Amino acid sequence: MTIDRDTLITAARDAATRAYAPYSNFHVGAALGFADGSVVTGANVENASYGLTLCAETVAVGKALSEDWRGQLEAVAVIGGRAGEVGKGDPVTPCGRCRQVLNEVAALGGNDPLIWCVGEDEVLELRLSDLLPRAFGPDSL
Ligand code: THU
Repeated sequence: MTIDRDTLITAARDAATRAYAPYSNFHVGAALGFADGSVVTGANVENASYGLTLCAETVAVGKALSEDWRGQLEAVAVIGGRAGEVGKGDPVTPCGRCRQVLNEVAALGGNDPLIWCVGEDEVLELRLSDLLPRAFGPDSL
């Protein structure tokens, strides 16, 4: 593992401060850790047309894939909560759509990243394949 857990969680927490979430008031930050040592972050971006909201994980994947190829995705940290309470309460796990979006970048690097879901009392450590078993990905086509 190139990037340690606390570094990635700190990056996700910092990203959450840049959430644009005036409708839900729920701020989420995500940090992708790649094998080359790079970290790409994202925060949720809401829209007055609520259903167009982009989750933090999806924003991070979009940034990573649109900037350049980052190689193996080793780990992802996700943290969230109401404004002023980010990281309090239960761990935030990626929504279903984000699991699929994360699977795309993971599959490109050919590995199964750790997903650190940060809560107040615990950090859940899961594999993406635990969250999205039998995923549909680039090899399925
Ligand atoms: N949200 C994320 O950013 N990531 C997730 O995995 C779950 C939900 C955001 C979307 C919306 O802006 C807010 O949290 C409340 O659903």
